[in-house]
Amino acid sequence: MTHLRFNAFVMNTGSHVHHGQWRHPAARQADFNDVRLWTDLAKRLEGGLFDAIFFADVVGLYGPADGSYEVHAREGLQIPSNDPAVLLSALAVNTEHLGLAFTSNVLQQHPFQFARQMSTLDHISNGRVAWNIVTGTLEGAARNFNLDNLPPHDDRYDWAREYVDVVYKLWEGSWDPDALVRDKQRGIFADAAKIHKINHRGPRYRVDGPHLPSPSPQRTPVLYQAGASAAGKAFAAEHAEAIFIIAPTPQVAAEGIRETRELAVRAGRRADDIKFYQGFAFVVGSTEEEARRKESEIESYISLDGYQTHRSYGARPDGTFYPPDTPLSAIDTNGSIGLLDWLRRSVTDREPVIADVGRLIASTARIVGTPEQIADQLVVWQRAGIDGVNMFNWHIPGSYEDFIDHVMPVLRERGLAQREYVPGTLRRKLFGTDLINDRHPAAAYRGAFTNADIR
Ligand SMILES: Cc1cc2nc3c(=O)[nH]c(=O)nc-3n(C[C@H](O)[C@H](O)[C@H](O)COP(=O)(O)O)c2cc1C
Repeated sequence: MTHLRFNAFVMNTGSHVHHGQWRHPAARQADFNDVRLWTDLAKRLEGGLFDAIFFADVVGLYGPADGSYEVHAREGLQIPSNDPAVLLSALAVNTEHLGLAFTSNVLQQHPFQFARQMSTLDHISNGRVAWNIVTGTLEGAARNFNLDNLPPHDDRYDWAREYVDVVYKLWEGSWDPDALVRDKQRGIFADAAKIHKINHRGPRYRVDGPHLPSPSPQRTPVLYQAGASAAGKAFAAEHAEAIFIIAPTPQVAAEGIRETRELAVRAGRRADDIKFYQGFAFVVGSTEEEARRKESEIESYISLDGYQTHRSYGARPDGTFYPPDTPLSAIDTNGSIGLLDWLRRSVTDREPVIADVGRLIASTARIVGTPEQIADQLVVWQRAGIDGVNMFNWHIPGSYEDFIDHVMPVLRERGLAQREYVPGTLRRKLFGTDLINDRHPAAAYRGAFTNADIR
């Protein structure tokens, strides 16, 4: 049996997923503006042989665009928040092996600039960056980027297809492998004949190129995706190398993984070109009793308001609230269809209602127990087909340290966690190669452009 992969799922903000926990006496996430909180965490994760630190991000507030943000501000619910890409350059120089993943929405940056930023980070980190491709669910974010409304759900994935097309052209096709010469004797820095314009012309973007950075170690960063709707799964099956799921049971995970792997094969890829990571939040105790005691302490800090506002299903488009007994089936959303579906499938004995949202999300994918019990559970999930764990936190510091110090040794003993890092880029660690494989659509642009446009 192969070992599992481990990502630490965080956000450059005070309250990411588990709202209210920042108030815990040991929690320091309220100090997220202090870069040392993150460099300390990154070093600790690297000491624990985590594969990557993965930053979520959004570029607007949750809920209706004109709605109140009183709860957001009170809870520190992803406001204030800082740009993860800037932070990653600090983490890159403080680590050697840890993968550095961040989320960037296709609406937030022009693809030419985004491709350049990514290549720069890939150079700085010696090939350890990953991009979580998101299409966004927030009306408020759309309004921050020149739009009147968030485009319809499936149209956002069409937008993403053009966006990735532009960045793949820049990363893979613009520079030949030997275009950077740097020959002091001959006085040649780079060979123009081997640097190509891409001349992209599409519905949203016009990009001539060439790409300004020379090829970085991975060229295309490792590609993460987490869409769960039909359109999201189809996009992920074509493009993602790592997919993030939060399935309510191993059976539901197995179903979704099988379906997406089949879609990938239909798109010309191999089933194992994609790694699946299930999200978990762990509560670890040396005895079951201790774990339960820690869980009740965590419960005492939970803010249900925070969870409900985060998921936005409590509010109508005009900002007024649904009554708490409204069935989830009565809610229409242009936001995350995948998440709404997940919520409906999580309550099986009755019709889930709005009042369930906070409670359900607070207890999502939570595993409580001794290190051995946690390892037993992870084996069940691994048999269902997951390749890795995307670990949420309750407290920074605290949650990752508990897992590294107590659970990792048991996992390592059972062959479920790596004993050392494979040297080299993040993609080499995960898949054995620095560059994206030939079956991926990005690879089609290698050697695709000529220098006919050089004048
Ligand atoms: C583990 C995980 C992490 C995610 N991180 C982000 C994020 O950082 N920013 C974001 O806008 N969406 C994030 N999403 C949302 C998805 O990328 C996706 O946009 C959302 O599920 C809506 O797409 P869908 O309707 O196809 O499911 C995340 C989802 C999951 C499961």
